[in-house]
Amino acid sequence: MVHFGQYIHTVKSIGNIVCEKGLTELDFDLEEIEKAGFEHFMLKEIFEQPEVMQDVMRGRVRLDEGRIQLGGIADQLERLRDAKRIVICACGTSWHAGLIGEYLIEEFARIPVEVDYASEFRYRSPIVGPDDVMIVISQSGETADTLAALRLAKEKGAMVVGICNVVGSTIARETDCGMYTHAGPEIGVASTKAFTAQVIVLTMLALALSKDRTMTDGEVMDALRCLNDLPERVKRILDYNGEIQSIAEEYKDARNFLYLGRGYNFPVALEGALKLKEISYIHAEGYPAAEMKHGPIALIDEEMPVVVIAPKDDTYQKVLSNIQEVKARGGRVIAIATEGDEEIRELADHVMYVPEGKAFMMPLLTVIPLQLLSYYIATLRGCDVDRPRNLAKSVTVE
Ligand code: M6R
Repeated sequence: MVHFGQYIHTVKSIGNIVCEKGLTELDFDLEEIEKAGFEHFMLKEIFEQPEVMQDVMRGRVRLDEGRIQLGGIADQLERLRDAKRIVICACGTSWHAGLIGEYLIEEFARIPVEVDYASEFRYRSPIVGPDDVMIVISQSGETADTLAALRLAKEKGAMVVGICNVVGSTIARETDCGMYTHAGPEIGVASTKAFTAQVIVLTMLALALSKDRTMTDGEVMDALRCLNDLPERVKRILDYNGEIQSIAEEYKDARNFLYLGRGYNFPVALEGALKLKEISYIHAEGYPAAEMKHGPIALIDEEMPVVVIAPKDDTYQKVLSNIQEVKARGGRVIAIATEGDEEIRELADHVMYVPEGKAFMMPLLTVIPLQLLSYYIATLRGCDVDRPRNLAKSVTVE
């Protein structure tokens, strides 16, 4: 608790004028002020995302010119475009953003991408050299494993590009070039706005690599318009906050959760599961939806809620079949679906809606209800969501 001043009362006389001065002690808690009326930093950071998304794109998404401008890598763009392979290294949530980056860069720029846990990369004999480009992703810019992977790749002659949030952090300083995510300070240990900012940077990077090569001007323009509309769509999802809170009430006592998604939404399933486990201490697993039949289906019963990310895309019908398989075994389904989808309402126990969007944009929409679901489940269980047990915001040791 920080006390701003204390009560002081003075009376001064100047000639025959009497001045009385009073100073009242205000019992303000600095942390409360910083939370701007939200109960926790995590909730504030979830709700900040529409503004953060605008900040990430400001000056970079140039709708009038039909292109992306990334100042931090402008001089190295050709080297990146000529890379034989891009290796993305990160940890935790940043690694999930990296997986989405793989889908984006391969789809748009047609450059092969591999995604590695930084901790694994550094302790095997990675094949990496001057023809490769490594992208390291880190909110803090201080994660020990990511830093070690960066140093190893540099030693082997690869160019290393950083995607960091903290300006001037060690990773930002040691990379050859990079892009800041401009998400502002992230205080909650569970990463939310930094994740969506990382995914936007990766989307912009994939588009910058594609322009005049693998995408037509029209295709790039379409993608830029989608990015431009994104903050408004996210605001719409945040308006469903109350409904998500009610769903959380029903599931707060579950002991396990399964998260399923396909394509761009598979990394979101991993991220949703990580968010839930780190702040609510409920065991949760993320899986590619089509892999369910290769094992996890054995776990399904009425005690196993399954969160299925099922927006209207190319695999929608297949994901619906997964929902039917879960229901046939007595499982309870929480679906994330496209607004207006009534078919899924018939099948699932609960639906959390997101606005429609192109497949590549979906992670930036579907992750929002998952962040809120985890937040509400954890607070209903009485967990300290901003400071979950055993976790540090920045893991600077091995
Ligand atoms: O600062 P970094 O992005 O390098 O941190 C990586 C992970 O430690 C971090 O994402 C962690 O998984 C978060 N607690 C996830 O919410």
